[in-house]
Amino acid sequence: MKLNNVFKNNEAWIQDKLSSDGKYFENLGKGQSPELLYIGCSDSRVTAEDLMGMGPGDVFVHRNIANMVISIDLNVMSVVNYAVEHLKVNHVVVCGHYACGGVKAAMQSADLGILNPWLRNIRDVYRLHKTELNAIENEDKRYDRLVELNVQEQCVNLIKTAAVQKAARDRNLKVHGWVFDVHSGKLIDLKIDFDGILNNIMEIYHLD
Ligand code: CO
Repeated sequence: MKLNNVFKNNEAWIQDKLSSDGKYFENLGKGQSPELLYIGCSDSRVTAEDLMGMGPGDVFVHRNIANMVISIDLNVMSVVNYAVEHLKVNHVVVCGHYACGGVKAAMQSADLGILNPWLRNIRDVYRLHKTELNAIENEDKRYDRLVELNVQEQCVNLIKTAAVQKAARDRNLKVHGWVFDVHSGKLIDLKIDFDGILNNIMEIYHLD
């Protein structure tokens, strides 16, 4: 990859945008009001806006290894707080993907140094769903299912936050769990039961 191409590509992109709308960047400079917060994996193959057919201004994006929502990660928690309480997004999406290296690493016995505490959170998802996962004999299928269950548990973690609880009550904010299939390009809605999860966990995690 020639890094110089990045700047050439950028010039071409600017011309492309301006050719269809002369005021494109003038309008972009006025501010943002995205309707969606997307929390996805840093994986280079899972291009947030691109795979959804969305563009600049449409989505507030946070990406980390294996699309985790960890309550003591100041980074993701700041993103959630800002998007929900200030930008007032009405939808929060956790988007995982099959063939996720982070999830794969958490299924293996290896000391990965600084990555250990991060991946520990995925191992916790495995422990929570051990019975279901261990019943799946095919390792690839078990891996795919852990990707899905990890998305579901990160949705649960979102629902544990005061910002999401408040916005769900006040303006009907919803949390969604999706998986991107890198083998086909297809985006799959896991159809997590947002209201059911919310009702279920409020007994213990009710903050607001
Ligand atoms: Co990944």
